[in-house]
Amino acid sequence: MGDPATVAESGFDVVPTGAAIGAEIVGLDLRALDDATFAALRQAWLKHQVLLFRGQTMSDDDLVAFAQRFGPLDRAPASEYDASGSQEKSRPDIWIISNVLEDGKPIGALGADEAEWHTDMSYVDAPPMASVLYSLEIPPTGGDTSFANMVAALEALPADLRAQIEGKTLNHDSSYTSTGQLRKGADPVTDVTQAPGARHPMIRTHPESGVQSLYLGRRRNGWVVGMDVAQSEALLDALWAHCASPRFAWTHQWRTGDLLIWDNRSANHRRDAFDASARRVMHRCQIKGDVPR
Ligand code: SIN
Repeated sequence: MGDPATVAESGFDVVPTGAAIGAEIVGLDLRALDDATFAALRQAWLKHQVLLFRGQTMSDDDLVAFAQRFGPLDRAPASEYDASGSQEKSRPDIWIISNVLEDGKPIGALGADEAEWHTDMSYVDAPPMASVLYSLEIPPTGGDTSFANMVAALEALPADLRAQIEGKTLNHDSSYTSTGQLRKGADPVTDVTQAPGARHPMIRTHPESGVQSLYLGRRRNGWVVGMDVAQSEALLDALWAHCASPRFAWTHQWRTGDLLIWDNRSANHRRDAFDASARRVMHRCQIKGDVPR
């Protein structure tokens, strides 16, 4: 955390990270929230885009109950490991993110590799508005998760780049996970203009705040619809170089019992790689969202 200004709100403290995005909430047990506290928490989340809660003790039922306060849940995304039956250990609305193997099979998705900058499940027509990630086991080093403020990234976008994306739509490929694994049942993409997925405006308007942000999904196999592929690649490279700047970002170093909730409509995230022989186990819920406009 940076040099925080602490603000008391409804029985908890909001401690901004000091970076371009995020705040820690201090003083709450997420298993016991009354309606007034939750309403204040939701406002803090809309303001800071990412909230961190340390020292939580959450069963899967507790995690789902907390996430459901924000709205109905989406089912977990398809991953390359679904064939192993790994997700059967938990519930369909919880996505296990882990590199741990049991009986030679992964218990979750994404392994130990770096996960590229992305926003969750933007390859569906109505991507989840938020994701909640809870840490059960954390490696001694690595596996940090970074967040980028895509409102600030749009505000700081050079005018020539902004002019090139005004009114444009991007195709968000559904074939690969953020760690570059082909999803179960997907075919390798050889032509980005034919990649499966969903098409969304490159500048979207937040349905609750009315604020605009850059909405780019992930870099892999993106295509600016209707644009020559070489031009689209050059434009996307320039946009990603801009929004991946540290000035828009904050990095979280996990401890066991941490819970993060982020706004997928206005924030991107990525994860550092970590030692594959260490254990990292996270449970994630995703909260249904609107069609981006
Ligand atoms: C994700 O939700 O993209 C994974 C983040 C992480 O493993 O830290």
